[in-house]
Formats: sequence, structure tokens, C-alpha cells
Amino acid sequence: MERTLVIVKPDGVQRALVGEIIKRFESRGLRIAGMKLMRISRETAEQHYAEHKGKGFYDGTVAYMTSAPVVVLCLEGPDAVAAVRATVGATNPLNAAAGTIRGDFGLNISRNLIHAADKPETAVRELALYFSEADMISYERAADKWLKE
Ligand code: PPS
Repeated sequence: MERTLVIVKPDGVQRALVGEIIKRFESRGLRIAGMKLMRISRETAEQHYAEHKGKGFYDGTVAYMTSAPVVVLCLEGPDAVAAVRATVGATNPLNAAAGTIRGDFGLNISRNLIHAADKPETAVRELALYFSEADMISYERAADKWLKE
């Protein structure tokens, strides 16, 4: 069982795609372990994207991520990081396969709707930026037994 961080970015919230996006993860079998609507502070956005400081898109990304509310999610499931990344699609929506979230709803790399942690270690670091341990709840759903052998 693995946990990962997903953020429905400001464009996803403003375009009223929150339900559609969460539905895809739930339909795939991932379980919501934490979820909140929030406005990301500049400090948190700078910490989140620290490895990209100095790149051309850094300032624009921090401004975009702090421009309006987002929905942050902790999703749980077997190989959740890889399953979520496959559901989200390539970073640049132009290269994202149809059927992925970015491939179905995006056109521009700087408005790519959603963030998903790229590795299990990154997921641990990023989850700690947005959730306290008490905010993340592990539980069994009645249907979970139908999602695995
Ligand atoms: S890279 O190129 O390897 O540094 O990019 P990557 O690690 O995949 O993601 C960088 C994050 O910045 C967002 N972003 C952009 N990346 C590349 N080019 C441009 N022009 C750009 N604009 C924004 C990109 O979406 C990644 O953020 P997240 O939140 O992970 O989607």
C-alpha cells in the first residue's frame, strides 16, 4: 500500500473539473486518504518547486499555483505513485495520451491541471508539505476486496 500527493491546480478548480478528475482516480480503485480545498502560500509553493528554482518556468509556476484555490489529495493504493502518474499523463498535455487527464482536458504545459508526485520518496516529502499525519486516514472500503485477488 502506497500513498501519493495529487493537486488539482487552480485551472482545474476554476474550470470545474475537480469532480471529473477525482472520479478518474476513484474509478481506478485508488482510495482518498486526505482531501482539502486550500490556497497555497508562496512559501509552500517555493518549497514544493525548490528543485526548479532558476529555471525559466519557476516564477510563473509559483505565481500560477498560488493564484487561486487548489484541491490537495492524498491517494492510497497499491503502487499509487505509478498508478496516479499513468492516469494523469505526460507533463506537457500536448504529449499526453488521450484517456489521461491531461490528454483529455489540457493543451498547455503551464496550465496542465494537475500535479502528481513522481516517485515514492517525492510523495513522502510533498505529502508533508500539505497534510499532517492526522489529516490522512487509512480505512477499508467494502469494495476494496473486489479490487485485488
Ligand atoms: S523538468 O523539465 O524535468 O524540470 O520538469 P518536471 O520535473 O517534469 O516538472 C516541472 C514542473 O514545472 C511545471 N512547468 C513546466 N515544466 C517544464 N516546462 C515548462 N514550460 C513548465 N511550466 C510549468 C510542470 O508542470 C511541473 O510541475 P508539476 O506540478 O509537477 O506539474
